[in-house]
Amino acid sequence: MIYLNGEWMPIEKAMVPVLDRGFIFGDGVYEVIPCYSGHPFRLREHLTRLQSSLDGVRIENPCSIERWDELVREMVAKNPMDDQYVYLQVTRGVAPRDHAFPKGVKPTVFMMTNPLTTPPQAQRDRGVAAVTVADNRWLRCDIKSVSLLANCLLRQTAVDGEAAEAVLLRDGFLTEGSASNIFVVKNGVIVTPPKTNFILPGITYDVVIELARANRLPLEIRQVSEAEVRDADELWLTSSTKEVLPISTLDGKPVGRGINAGKPGPVAARMYQLYQDYKRTVMRAPDNVDA
Ligand code: PDD
Repeated sequence: MIYLNGEWMPIEKAMVPVLDRGFIFGDGVYEVIPCYSGHPFRLREHLTRLQSSLDGVRIENPCSIERWDELVREMVAKNPMDDQYVYLQVTRGVAPRDHAFPKGVKPTVFMMTNPLTTPPQAQRDRGVAAVTVADNRWLRCDIKSVSLLANCLLRQTAVDGEAAEAVLLRDGFLTEGSASNIFVVKNGVIVTPPKTNFILPGITYDVVIELARANRLPLEIRQVSEAEVRDADELWLTSSTKEVLPISTLDGKPVGRGINAGKPGPVAARMYQLYQDYKRTVMRAPDNVDA
């Protein structure tokens, strides 16, 4: 069952008018919320980021945070699956085509859920290939916009090079992945770029930073140069659907040096474990308040 503008229906029945501004202009924002064994993970944080994205594109939030919370839980209850990710999107609504905002139009609200398959152990053991690509997106990458054409092109460049992700560089510095945040490890220190308009403030990024701090793992949040990316001992990507996934080759060259070159490193393994333990703790919480 999916949710569209106040109604629940099978996805085959769901229709959106062609003049929806999401279709015409990519004028909308979205969220992807992982749910483990029926429990939404970091739901408040996802809904807070949704509010910032809506503010960023000047669409009034059609629901209160409490209502969103209810809807996400209802979605999961109506679609019992083990692990799943709830996708929700809000567009500016349906109006005759004109770039300027229409007046008095109701936003279109759409939600669906799909099975969540996190990367299998074998892939995590091997790590994935990535390629570097110039980040040619707009300057509001902090908004989780459905206008993802640039991200799609960047990801396809990676796929064309038989890689899983594009690591994006802007003016000689790391930004993020086409659909993930990127972490670098050098001499045991975890380094990642700060939250600016150049990256999406990832929910997984926040969890990783919290876990690093809580476990006293050396961490620096600062600009990361291209040279540091290429010279890293470890590279990881993080996202709600990939969790913490090591990158083992970059532009066809092994990540790291010596006997561990091209193999996922120990800090990634530690962080992955911390992430799994944290997930389990949160899921056990009686009212799931932290989730
Ligand atoms: N994408 N950066 C970009 C550009 C992203 O699209 C994503 C996630 C992230 C990671 O954010 P989070 O940890 O909150 O998932 C960073 C989602 C998964 C997607 O578009 O499917």
